Order: sequence, then C-alpha cells, then structure tokens
Amino acid sequence: MSKNKGRFITVEGGEGAGKSTNLELIKELLEAAGHPVLFTREPGGTPLGEEIRTLLLGHRDDGMAAETELLLMFGARAEHLNRKIIPALNAGTWVLCDRFTDATYAYQGGGRGIAPERIQILEQWVQHDLRPDLTLLLDLPVEVGLERAGRRSAPDRFESEASQFFQNVRARYLDIAKKESTRVKVVDASMPLPQVQSQIKTVVGAFLSSCR
Ligand code: TMP
Repeated sequence: MSKNKGRFITVEGGEGAGKSTNLELIKELLEAAGHPVLFTREPGGTPLGEEIRTLLLGHRDDGMAAETELLLMFGARAEHLNRKIIPALNAGTWVLCDRFTDATYAYQGGGRGIAPERIQILEQWVQHDLRPDLTLLLDLPVEVGLERAGRRSAPDRFESEASQFFQNVRARYLDIAKKESTRVKVVDASMPLPQVQSQIKTVVGAFLSSCR
C-alpha cells in the first residue's frame, strides 16, 4: 500500500474475548502515533449495513439458510467497503474495524460448514485485492469466553449457538492465523486484562514501526 494511504486494521475473536475494551486501546495507540482513525464494525458500519446487521443477529422463528447468511454478510461488506472503508483509506485515514472477512471464514465457514472456496469467490468479487494490513486475533478457550459473554445481555442469533459451533469457529480462526502469520497476530485473551493489553501494545507498536 502506498505511503499516503491509510492502513486497514481488523480485530477478531470469539465470544467474550474482550473486543470492545481492547479496540478502544488500539484506537488510542494509533491516534497517539498521529494517525486519524475511523472506527467501524461488521456486520454494519453504514446505515444499510446496520439494517442488515439487525436481520442477521435477530432471532427468526423460520431460521436462515447458511447461504443467505453468507450473502447478507457480503452485502453489508460491499456497502461498507464502497461507501466508507475505501474512501477513508484513500483519504489517508486509518481504518480500525471490529471484525471483517476472517469472521466469515470462521463463522460461516468453520461454524456453518460452508466451503472456504465459495467464500473466497465472494471475497475476491467484493474486495478485489483489498485485505487488512494487520489483524489481531483475540483468542481464548471457548468455555471461558462463553462464561464471560453470558454475564452480559440476552444472546443474539449467533451467541445462541451450541459450544461445538464456537469450537469450530475458534479452530478456523487459529488455522487462518497459522497460514497468514505475517498479517494475523494472535493475542492470548484468556490472561488478565493488563497482560492482554501489554501483548496488544507490542503487536501494534511493531506494526507502527514497520509503517515508518
Ligand atoms: P459482534 O457481536 O462481535 O459485533 O459480531 C456480530 C456477530 O456476527 C458475531 O457473532 C460474529 C458474526 N459474524 C459472522 O458470522 N460473520 C461475519 O462475517 C461477521 C463480520 C460477523
């Protein structure tokens, strides 16, 4: 990516991994280094994308086909990329996104069982060659994450899945991290918060140095 363009950073993780608190820290670290930051999320990030999010996360008596779920994720993503992420990056703004396409490989691929080759076709079609420059994967054992998440509000359609679904999601995330170890950095999110944050500072610090 050329020097005057912004960088695209994504944060991924299972339920209860502490994404919100840690996204806040990452945003502060980037801003402290002098970069303007657009903070956004998927599914969502635009008015239409947020409407699609409501459809995706809401409970439905008649359920939703896995393919429909996949296409809605990429529908929201196309809107997000074209109307928000790409214009921001072109203007030199750094984009910090709460989840992106790795979540599709993990949830729709690992969780729902859709073949990665099919997801790849949509990724290429919607994103062309745009991929995150850095991804932080907040990883922790499923049971620990579900315990933490359970203390919060009523579960959405994904949070209501069985433990095996999340085991498959986690395995797929770790698989991606192994295959793409330059882009995806694994943070052990099972540790107490100060230790998690110190790992994040190290990863973000190294990335910032590599951008100079
Ligand atoms: P969040 O609650 O962490 O913001 O994410 C919303 C849910 O959407 C979460 O359970 C993961 C799921 N999701 C997918 O299944 N596929 C995707 O591509 C994305 C971005 C999120």
